Amino acid sequence: MARIAVVAGDGIGPEVVAQARKVLDAVLPGVQATEYDLGAARWHRTGEVLPDSVLTELAGHDAILLGAVGDPTVPPGVLERGLLLKLRFAFDQYVNLRPSRLWPGVAGPLGNVKPGEVDLVVVREGTEGLYAGAGGSLHRDTPAEVATEESLNTRHGVERVIRDAFARAGRRERRKVTLVHKTNVLTHAGSLWARTFDAVAAEHPDIETEYQHVDAAAMFLVTQPQRYDVVVTDNLFGDILTDIAAAVTGGIGLAASGCINPQGAYPSMFEPVHGSAPDIAGQGIADPVAAVLSAALLLEQLGHSESAARVNAAVAAELASRAPGATLRTEEVGDRLAAHAVA
Ligand code: NAI
Ligand code: MG
Repeated sequence: MARIAVVAGDGIGPEVVAQARKVLDAVLPGVQATEYDLGAARWHRTGEVLPDSVLTELAGHDAILLGAVGDPTVPPGVLERGLLLKLRFAFDQYVNLRPSRLWPGVAGPLGNVKPGEVDLVVVREGTEGLYAGAGGSLHRDTPAEVATEESLNTRHGVERVIRDAFARAGRRERRKVTLVHKTNVLTHAGSLWARTFDAVAAEHPDIETEYQHVDAAAMFLVTQPQRYDVVVTDNLFGDILTDIAAAVTGGIGLAASGCINPQGAYPSMFEPVHGSAPDIAGQGIADPVAAVLSAALLLEQLGHSESAARVNAAVAAELASRAPGATLRTEEVGDRLAAHAVA
């Protein structure tokens, strides 16, 4: 039976994770969940971010379900680098998977896009690029201060994420992969990405390919998001583009993600794209759909495709029946999703 580590985290994290767990219990009875207390609250209480002993315990699970961590009272970087990025790197979660769909019933901000027309997935590289932590600074807080932040790209790291993108495209209807980079300016890393992409593409003559510069992709995600199927890109570009993709498909309350170690050498981690939303925390009005869809990605990764499909169907029914502008109650949405998914 699946053993899942749950990091509910801060703010609305525990509120939405409770609903995701309800749905998981409904579709996969007997799933074993262990709660881990990490995040801003723990850091304030103990000064700990992610003790090595906890990292070791987490490694013994099949997957991690995370709500959100963070609070304006924690200095920038403490939890992002010390918890989220540390987990991604320690567990070699090199595929950062971020699907975006415009679900029927959801009113997106774009006038020219009909529900059902947008169904794309961004495969963002998760362990390299500008997020690798390479760089440093000198003469801090003086007029001579210097700071560098280097983008790290290895053939191994680039090739494995591109291969994953092609494998995913091969399992989807449209079978198309778009490489997004900035090869005209970032010529060193860009050349490595482009040559690797072309080499992998040559092994997949049945999959359509295209290349776009990241600035053009930012524009097309707004003007023509229908054109995308699978998008593969580097860590920073993927981070930014997936916020745009979320925005044009109904917002952050619906956006799910997975930080995946495809071989299963380490647990993969599934989390809503949104943060801890301190502005609405404790009010019971956060949308749990992003967390529930993240649980569906978790089920898919663990091989429970049929259960994942039931969760997705429950979300589709929920979103199709939402009255525009109505205030939702987190608990009630979770109850409806769980009831629908089990039926
Ligand atoms: P945020 O995503 O928490 O909130 C942005 C806006 O979206 C807020 O107005 C919030 O109310 C709304 N929102 C977010 N999730 C929602 C939901 N499920 N339903 C309805 N509305 C929702 O981003 P923000 O405010 O920039 O960050 C707040 C804290 O969360 C910070 O400490 C930040 O570092 C952290 N954070 C953590 C992440 C993670 O754990 N993976 C990701 C992003 C931010
Ligand atoms: Mg982001």
